[in-house]
Amino acid sequence: MAALEFPRGFRWGTATASYQVEGAVSEDGRGESIWDRFSHTPGKTANGDTGDIACDEYHRYPEDIEHMKRLGVSSYRFSIAWPRIFPTGRGQPNLKGLDYYRRLVDALRAVAIEPVATLYHWDLPQALQEKGGWANRDTAHWFAEYADYVMRKLSGPVSLWITQNEPWVVAFLGHFYGEHAPGLRDPRAAFAVAHHLLLSHGLAVEAFREEHLAGRIGITLNIQLVHPASASPADQAASRLADGALNRWFLDPIFRGCYPEDVVALVQSQGWMPNIGSGDMATIQRPIDFLGVNYYTRTLIAADPSQPLGVRPLPGPGAKTQMGWEVYPEGLYEVLTRLYKEYQPQLKQLYITENGAAYDDHLPVPVELVNDDTTVHDPERVEYLGRHFYQAWRAIQDGVPLAGYFVWALLDNFEWALGYTRRFGLLYVDYPTQRRVWKQSAHFYQKVIAANAIDSSYGEERPASDRKP
Ligand code: FCB
Repeated sequence: MAALEFPRGFRWGTATASYQVEGAVSEDGRGESIWDRFSHTPGKTANGDTGDIACDEYHRYPEDIEHMKRLGVSSYRFSIAWPRIFPTGRGQPNLKGLDYYRRLVDALRAVAIEPVATLYHWDLPQALQEKGGWANRDTAHWFAEYADYVMRKLSGPVSLWITQNEPWVVAFLGHFYGEHAPGLRDPRAAFAVAHHLLLSHGLAVEAFREEHLAGRIGITLNIQLVHPASASPADQAASRLADGALNRWFLDPIFRGCYPEDVVALVQSQGWMPNIGSGDMATIQRPIDFLGVNYYTRTLIAADPSQPLGVRPLPGPGAKTQMGWEVYPEGLYEVLTRLYKEYQPQLKQLYITENGAAYDDHLPVPVELVNDDTTVHDPERVEYLGRHFYQAWRAIQDGVPLAGYFVWALLDNFEWALGYTRRFGLLYVDYPTQRRVWKQSAHFYQKVIAANAIDSSYGEERPASDRKP
């Protein structure tokens, strides 16, 4: 089988987020976040799980950096917890909180791993939620103050900044469906939140540019690939609208300075349109250096007048991960090529800032018997990653300026409302002992990184047992 090479300098990385891995929620002056409040509210997360301890990354980051070094990654994407820096959201910075990230970033640099920092991965200070949270326009400005402070302190060592992670999820899972913190079900609030998140992104980009800070800045969107459930005109129209509400609602403001007209008409007819201040769209449209794409699956869309916006999501026919998400690697190629085609020249460069899969992994032996050679068997994840790497490679061949790929996640962690019931890691975490155990997929990724190439067989659909290791 031929080795398909990635460009020289391609960034291979892993990703995590503060609330999902850090733990140490009351240490060194950290304030409460909306995820602390939400996860401690009975009935909100699986088994009542919380991020109180999570992977104990706050104390174990040196060990995890050792694992990353062994994997050979060139970059690590982590997020900064706003309530560690400003425990009540604003006012006096908490220097001990900042110091944690300084130590983390220095330790990464010491082993030549590039720190990639997300400024908001969902842990809003609870004190700001009490002032209305993201539904309050002021939060966009408070975010910009926080972002400005952190970027001034850490730019240089941090060379890539991601303002917001998946604003659709924050706005809609948090404020429309109520499945994520702060758990609201208020469509008008959800659209206001989406606008304020976009505004906060633009304000942070402005601050970054005005101060001529070193490095580059962009945003991460969860691009949700949708296909019509059938060839019927109704399903096709529903699919187009779903794409508008899920994807173009964020892409168009960022790259074109306007909301997509087809969706605006519908949102207006429901009375959900946010207030847009004069100058907002120009701020949101401030040029960025790259777009981060989180890609996991695709969804089929059927027309259904009884559903919000008249669209009903359905799973596709392919194999599913433990999330119930269809494995659909060719969708990654479709998303990357489409984004570049539709949004260049404003869209200059892309990163896959998350891609990965949850499977029901188990230790092969009781934890007391685990040693450095123990490997968790996860052939499905190897297959999932290999086939997605192939599609990324294909997109690069077709001219997409894809600069890097971050596997979600470095290690198993707190999967939001699903708690610890879903494992996405390359490393298995035995939570009671905090022992990390490499999965087969970690060994696979190590080889891909070392070769900067994948086996061409990942371009074909075939049983995992046929693959070369
Ligand atoms: C994404 C989130 C990330 C993780 C993965 C599985 O939506 O950004 O934190 O939970 O899904």
